[in-house]
Amino acid sequence: MCSHHCFLLFIFFLASHSLVTSRTLPKNSVTTSTILDVADSIRKTKDTSSFHLNQQDEQSHSPSSFTLQLHSRASIRGNEHSDYNSLTLARLDRDSARVKSLMARLDLAKADLKPAITTTSQQQDIEAPLISGTTQGSGEYFTRVGIGNPAREVYMVLDTGSDVNWLQCSPCADCYHQTEPIFNPSSSSSYTTLSCDTPQCNSLELSECRNATCLYEVNYGDGSYTVGDLATETLTIGSASVANVAVGCGHSNKGLFVGAAGLLGLGGGALALPSQLNATSFSYCLVDRDSDSASTVEFGSGISPDAVVAPLLRNRRVDTFYYVGLAGISVGGEMLRIPMSSFEVDETGGGGIIIDSGTAVTRLQTEVYDSLRDEFVKGTTDLERVGGVAMFDTCYDLAAKATIEVPTVAFHFPGGNVLALPAKNYMIPVDSVGTFCLAFAPTASSLSIIGNVQQQGTRVGFDLENSRIGFSTNKC
Ligand SMILES: *[C@@H]1O[C@H](CO)[C@@H](O)[C@H](O)[C@H]1NC(C)=O
Ligand SMILES: *[C@@H]1O[C@H](CO)[C@@H](O)[C@H](O)[C@H]1NC(C)=O
Repeated sequence: MCSHHCFLLFIFFLASHSLVTSRTLPKNSVTTSTILDVADSIRKTKDTSSFHLNQQDEQSHSPSSFTLQLHSRASIRGNEHSDYNSLTLARLDRDSARVKSLMARLDLAKADLKPAITTTSQQQDIEAPLISGTTQGSGEYFTRVGIGNPAREVYMVLDTGSDVNWLQCSPCADCYHQTEPIFNPSSSSSYTTLSCDTPQCNSLELSECRNATCLYEVNYGDGSYTVGDLATETLTIGSASVANVAVGCGHSNKGLFVGAAGLLGLGGGALALPSQLNATSFSYCLVDRDSDSASTVEFGSGISPDAVVAPLLRNRRVDTFYYVGLAGISVGGEMLRIPMSSFEVDETGGGGIIIDSGTAVTRLQTEVYDSLRDEFVKGTTDLERVGGVAMFDTCYDLAAKATIEVPTVAFHFPGGNVLALPAKNYMIPVDSVGTFCLAFAPTASSLSIIGNVQQQGTRVGFDLENSRIGFSTNKC
């Protein structure tokens, strides 16, 4: 079945792969340097130990739009680490697992494999961790919604990298620990399982028909997964009730989704929330990862007129991801000299650059990353370099500084629009004693990802109707 945004699906590629950009920007199109408030960033690393959750006016609803409150992981989990350095290392570990899972998802789509789950013995197989080591717990941003009738309030992870909405359901064959009691479908009058011939069941990537009812499965590629019945339920968003939302009722779930009951998908697929709400647009603002204040996800409210606008592209092989039309990156006012094809989706469905709420650090093809880093280092020779930290190879000791000037990093979109990143979105503290790192990382994959560190404090709007993405800085 073709959803309402089928017409958006297309693949972009350029015939001339070997062209290299080598222009200097026209003067005043972007500032060459940006101020970083070092003292303020360090102060915030110390505040993370005293978080408490703000629950003022959780959700609201106006006739034209649905709004959900958005909370950072840190604000929900509170002080789970003894110091900021171990918090950073855990985040980066989780981030590597996240990127692996997105890459696995894309590889599956490119191979056009649609393996069906068929027997219980195969379900045993998927319990083997795909990546060794304990799962750190997926999910960086959370919201609270009501499920069923009568509505039961639960925490759900919100994720642009996923389509299928699901929550843990009793009876549990296997459930991870969650904060609230596990949802019991038999106590909800609006719970209805879906049969196998429904459009919702056909939209699943992994499904099985058991006794004429639709079974779903989602694997996150980092060892976590959920399996259960695909059903329709009533979702309560503030004062608004939305009936018949397709939701997976997971009876076998693995992975520590940090106490959340489940996940709401914000991806581009037919089963994701934007599509199910018939939203022609949605936007979110990711509050600072080191902040306990809340922000919102809004459906149907368009993108701000003052937003920096870029093309929103779709890859017909995997409709979950939101691809950004990116023409280039500048550092300190100089365009990086990188192949023009660096951010294009190729004929096989590989390449391109997606924007993701669940990935922390922006990943760039190694050649692009090296060029960005070298240009950045050239502009920071006055700062004291120190050894790398985890995935970061460009770090500085800024303990003695109150503010510094760093080269401006800016994204350039086709048509000339420019998004200059705030310095705190790419020079980030990794401990509480003044070590800061350049928060970009290389990837061996051809797929690049704009991560949430680079999106902090920016309202990111997805105009699905007009295939545009808008960035409004300082609009949380
Ligand atoms: C399938 O449905 C039949 C008839 O309703 C029932 O007897 C049987 O137990 C069901 N099997 C499973 C695996 O649920
Ligand atoms: C979305 O559109 C479909 C088809 O027109 C309709 O059945 C459904 O009720 C709509 N959902 C919402 C939340 O408006």
